[in-house]
Amino acid sequence: MTAAPRPPLVKGLPWIGPGLALARNPEQALQGMHQQYGPVFRFKTPLIDAVCMAGPEANAFANTEGKDVLESRTFWKPLTEELDSPNAVVALDGEPHRQMRKILKPAFSRDQIDQNIPVLAAMIRKQFDAYPDDTDLPLVFASQKLTSNIVGHLLMGSTPDDHELEEFFHYANRMTVWLSVLRLPAKAMHLTGGPRFKRAQAITAQVVDNAVRKALTEPHDRPLLANIMTEARRHHPELFTDGDIRSTGFLAFFAGIDTIGQTLVFMLWELLRNPDALREVQAEVDRVFSNGLPDAQSLATDLPLCRNTFLETLRLHPTAFGIMRNAACDFVFNGHQVLKGENVLLYTTACHRDARYFDHPDAFDVHRHDADRETARPRHVFVPFGRGAHTCAGAAWSEAQAVLMLSVLLHHYQFSLPENMKDAKVQMRTTPTLGKDFRIHLIGKRPH
Ligand code: HEM
Repeated sequence: MTAAPRPPLVKGLPWIGPGLALARNPEQALQGMHQQYGPVFRFKTPLIDAVCMAGPEANAFANTEGKDVLESRTFWKPLTEELDSPNAVVALDGEPHRQMRKILKPAFSRDQIDQNIPVLAAMIRKQFDAYPDDTDLPLVFASQKLTSNIVGHLLMGSTPDDHELEEFFHYANRMTVWLSVLRLPAKAMHLTGGPRFKRAQAITAQVVDNAVRKALTEPHDRPLLANIMTEARRHHPELFTDGDIRSTGFLAFFAGIDTIGQTLVFMLWELLRNPDALREVQAEVDRVFSNGLPDAQSLATDLPLCRNTFLETLRLHPTAFGIMRNAACDFVFNGHQVLKGENVLLYTTACHRDARYFDHPDAFDVHRHDADRETARPRHVFVPFGRGAHTCAGAAWSEAQAVLMLSVLLHHYQFSLPENMKDAKVQMRTTPTLGKDFRIHLIGKRPH
């Protein structure tokens, strides 16, 4: 029997391969490679050699055999070492991972949003009421602040102040870029970070420690993440070091920054660029809010266009467009041999703008996710929350949070888009973003 051939190697410049294109815009570069080479190919750059598995075939594989032949620990190791958290859920595999998901399930469930709608709506309004009318808002920071505060409040019971959040963002961003994107040694990150990075690290550690200490010592009305983990440690001491419990604070604020935080920015941008869609969504929101703040049932069922806005935004601007793994053993995918230990990039969102599955794929269509159109779509082409064992634990939570934030903002405030922001450029940082200079105009509060 002849062995399966190796995946085709992407052509590029000597030594750097397709490195420049990937550095400039990884998503666009991968899109081109996927079109040229198909569902599996290899690329080599000075920073990383990887096999890329892309599209519906790869997503289906990740959900089946991939659960056994792809592992997460190696990719996340530099980050978990930096955070002193060997059992972070993202970095576990196999049975320990299944146990950890089960333990954490209630903490990341949709109920967290559903049971706290009035408190969260008040947090959204408090932040936006504080901005003066007729002002250009730097939306990326405003959104990251709002989403981190909501996630932080629900998981940790605390919300850092603006200065602490800025320091946290600095630390988290640099760490993600150095350790996960560029895959450079932690030592170099610390050496080159200077006093700015040291300060950000120290302030972050203080904020996280305080949050965990408060969660473990002060009374509160519901179990927080640190309580859930401390209780679970009694039955599974092997799954929780002190560092693991401490790093929950980090995870909690982190989940709000680049995922749902950037998504809220893109949602508002797309609606403000598509006035017909905005009118329809705002009419839906006003109809529902005319009876007061929606309850959990109403949030789930009466705001379908807000939900569609969230999904359509994730189709066009997926904040996690791919996920990294390593091959746990030799395996064959789509007729090609992948070798044990190789880096594997699962390009899960490769088909999000594929005209075979989405009409006018670059257009924002607020009805694209209507129930009848959603059921007609093949299963593995729209994949904003990853696939396989590590698929987003907070997906249902995110949807509820996105619908709540969008509906409260559209009901209470009038926004417009400055002319020069209509074609703002999407930049690639650790995730796609409109960047810190992106602004929307807050006209003021809507009279009700
Ligand atoms: C727009 C919002 C979000 C998107 C697009 C998103 C996307 C993803 C993706 C693609 C993964 C898989 C990572 C991998 O396989 O390596 C993931 C994992 C995860 N997400 Fe989300 N996420 C979002 C929001 C959230 C929120 C708000 C929370 C928590 C409240 C959350 C909690 C988690 C957790 C705990 C994992 C790790 C699961 C595991 O390793 O088993 N996510 N997310």
